[in-house]
Amino acid sequence: MSKSLIVYYSLGGKTRKVVDILQKLTNADVYEIELEKPYSKLTAYTIGLGHCKTGYEPPIKNEIDLSAYDKIFIGGPTWWFTYAPPINSFIKKYDLTDKIIYPFGTATSNFGGYFERFNKECKAKEIKKPLKILRTNFKNDLEETIRLWLKENGE
Ligand SMILES: Cc1cc2nc3c(=O)[nH]c(=O)nc-3n(C[C@H](O)[C@H](O)[C@H](O)COP(=O)(O)O)c2cc1C
Repeated sequence: MSKSLIVYYSLGGKTRKVVDILQKLTNADVYEIELEKPYSKLTAYTIGLGHCKTGYEPPIKNEIDLSAYDKIFIGGPTWWFTYAPPINSFIKKYDLTDKIIYPFGTATSNFGGYFERFNKECKAKEIKKPLKILRTNFKNDLEETIRLWLKENGE
């Protein structure tokens, strides 16, 4: 059986919390996207805004060989009503045309066009229904929400 991979970016640690539970439930390998020039909490709001608007792909520092995986979970935070730029870098850099993608994202309250854009920009064999984690889920029902989503996707 081939293994699954969880690919993620997290600036503040919220998405990492989702990844920890996903990993526990799926036993997937984990790859964190690291940037050559990491954002700080300040530059995410300043430089990051421009990067989200222009569709910039910040260069990734660490490589990953995807050949062993056919299912890939990909997630990160919502920035400026879309996915954070490191997610853009990943889906543009790697050939995902033979992969089944399980998108997930975190947001305080509003994903904006995150998943519509993701579905358009990510060239994959198949893209599953996204897992959307809001601030309220962190407070109330994080693990349950993730379990339910995995079940709905036949995992
Ligand atoms: C630069 C920036 C922009 C953000 N824009 C949004 C947004 O448009 N909508 C929203 O609901 N939350 C927004 N947030 C909040 C984050 O999406 C949310 O806190 C997320 O869970 C953080 O994930 P992380 O801790 O893994 O980085 C923004 C946060 C940052 C830093």
